Amino acid sequence: MHMKNFYSILSDYSLEKEFEAGMKKRTLDHKFLYLKEGADLYYTALGKKKELLYSKKTFLDSNGVVFSWDENSKNEEKSFYDQWKKHCEFWKKFIFGSKKEKVCIVSIWCGNGWSEKKTLEYLWNKKFNIHYIWVDASSHMLQLAEKNLRDINIQKEFICADMLSNEFKIFIKNKVKNFDLVVYSLFRTFSNNNQNTLVEWFFNIMEWDRDMLRLNVPIIPDHPKSEQQIQNRYKSFLTNEDRVKQKILPFERIWIPKENGAVNMAMWREEQVWALIFKYYFKFHKKTTVMIDNQECHFLPNEQITLIDIRSYDAQRFVEFMEQHRFFTMEQEIIDIPEDVISLGLYIFRKKIYQD
Ligand SMILES: C[S@@+](CC[C@H](N)C(=O)[O-])C[C@H]1O[C@@H](n2cnc3c(N)ncnc32)[C@H](O)[C@@H]1O
Repeated sequence: MHMKNFYSILSDYSLEKEFEAGMKKRTLDHKFLYLKEGADLYYTALGKKKELLYSKKTFLDSNGVVFSWDENSKNEEKSFYDQWKKHCEFWKKFIFGSKKEKVCIVSIWCGNGWSEKKTLEYLWNKKFNIHYIWVDASSHMLQLAEKNLRDINIQKEFICADMLSNEFKIFIKNKVKNFDLVVYSLFRTFSNNNQNTLVEWFFNIMEWDRDMLRLNVPIIPDHPKSEQQIQNRYKSFLTNEDRVKQKILPFERIWIPKENGAVNMAMWREEQVWALIFKYYFKFHKKTTVMIDNQECHFLPNEQITLIDIRSYDAQRFVEFMEQHRFFTMEQEIIDIPEDVISLGLYIFRKKIYQD
């Protein structure tokens, strides 16, 4: 790939080997869902939101923060941009408010960059001198991000890496060592991962007197029908062809015919953090025999392989979870989204020096 400021510390070969080893053990890391055409499909399935984002209906006012809005706009559009306004207010407070000169934002799992494009525009508009590092395991996602963000002339670097690898840990620590403020930023992905591994990884990598962790997670609104409504929402994803197709792409790569099974979803309560987990899994209907890395593998009827787990958190218990892992909550805000059944939790954490 010939891209300016692009670094790769993850080869296609090692990804392929990890994928094959996982499938032999019947486990699949969710990063394999976003490789190659999985990247495009993921955003095609988001549909409406993507359209809204790329539409020209919004602009930043002279202070660079408020999105001006036409009163006749539909509620959904208004609410969508209200969220972006909140994001920008967050950055205003923590980046401008910090008065630090050399600031670096590390966007972990950046995808195609759309979630943070408005932020970047805002920082650019304010002529804020910032360094933005985009990290993703999918080189295709990074290509999309580079294209999406090309017009915004802020210092950018794109890193293709598995963020949980040792190579990346060494690489990023070295890369950010001369900055006065480093913000690790995760948009819409924390809840799809092993939260314990992640939070301990961040704790280990962050400098307590310099770095911040900015998370954005789905929150269960506080009313009796929430649980059922959220369950219906995630269940309806099974009727979205693009979403389902994206989830079974990895299977097609090893020649498992999609007709030999189906994608299902199960929900349960994760007591440790009192989150709701929605597990999407592939269930075989027919015995399927394939060769994986020269090994014969037999998937039997009713065998299940997890594709992805997605959580919705309880607002208070999520903060307690972070604090138990020795993080200090600098800011938290829950944004209700009128046309959606899930709220959005925005958080900024720092490391505590001592555990209470
Ligand atoms: C749900 S998408 C979200 C992307 C983006 N933050 C957004 O808001 O649109 C998850 C992204 O995380 C990336 N990813 C998953 N696991 C990863 C890992 N271990 N290291 C680096 N990137 C990873 C995927 O390639 C994918 O682009």
